[in-house]
Amino acid sequence: MRMFKEGVDQAAGIKRMTNKKPVRVIAIASGKGGVGKTNLSVNLGVSFCKLGHKVALLDADMGLANVDILLGLHPEYNLTHVLSGEKTLDDIVVEGPHGLKVIPASSGVQHMAEIGTMEQAGIINAFGEFGHDIDMLLVDTAAGIHGGVINFARACQEVLIVVCDEPTSLTDAYALIKLLNRDHGLSRFHIITNMVETLNHGKVLYQKLCKVTDQYLDVALYFTGAVPFDKSLRKSVQKQQAVVESAPNSPAATAIKNIAKRIDGWPVQRGAGGYLEFFVERLIQGESTG
Ligand SMILES: Nc1ncnc2c1ncn2[C@@H]1O[C@H](COP(=O)(O)OP(=O)(O)O)[C@@H](O)[C@H]1O
Ligand SMILES: [Mg+2]
Repeated sequence: MRMFKEGVDQAAGIKRMTNKKPVRVIAIASGKGGVGKTNLSVNLGVSFCKLGHKVALLDADMGLANVDILLGLHPEYNLTHVLSGEKTLDDIVVEGPHGLKVIPASSGVQHMAEIGTMEQAGIINAFGEFGHDIDMLLVDTAAGIHGGVINFARACQEVLIVVCDEPTSLTDAYALIKLLNRDHGLSRFHIITNMVETLNHGKVLYQKLCKVTDQYLDVALYFTGAVPFDKSLRKSVQKQQAVVESAPNSPAATAIKNIAKRIDGWPVQRGAGGYLEFFVERLIQGESTG
């Protein structure tokens, strides 16, 4: 009975969204943790707002949520309250700098790290009701290549993969790309190299990854940019501010702002993929195919 109701709610939710305008949905993923996904998500989110976009940032790292911490926000509620039915997505959204709408996850709830199908269905329902007017949704994913990460990543139109110069970062990025390609047919990936010494270092790293994917997979990797290792970013983390706000002229902030401008220039994908409901539909497909 409960399952039946979920199905009805989902269909209704999708229908409600069909009248809304296109929303570009971008996943930020990496395979390995600690490479800078959350910092990039937050800073790209703020940068897109400053470019005039209406942006929501979904913290999809249910095990180690920290988008809110990085921005010094103190959300009273989070996705667990949406999943339990106590709150709607609109209730839990907290406003970050320049109007960035942060959808907080729960911190430190270990069993939530791998969200199950019912939880995903709950998130799907919640998006159906989402009342905010946005034109961009960024999804900061968890580390690893488990079901939750894969489902979120495959549901987005664009996948940004963050890598840094560590062998495990490259091998984990490769494993993630391979899985998304082999099991879900994704063939285009955008690469950001982080914590690099120079732009050239970043490009070399990207080429290293391309060399392996070219050899074994039929995918296209696009270089989106390199972000230098920068103490200003660490300091901003301590101050709980986005580096593009607290040190806007620092090397990392400059690089991230340029990446945001580059992404802003990407052509909007035509077809069903240009809409928020597509994100939701793909999540449902993920659910039904396991
Ligand atoms: N460009 C950078 N320069 C210096 N430190 C960085 C940079 N990017 C990320 N970091 C640091 O790396 C750590 C992990 O970043 P985080 O965004 O939490 O990674 P992830 O979300 O991939 O786990 C943080 O302590 C952050 O301060
Ligand atoms: Mg993170």
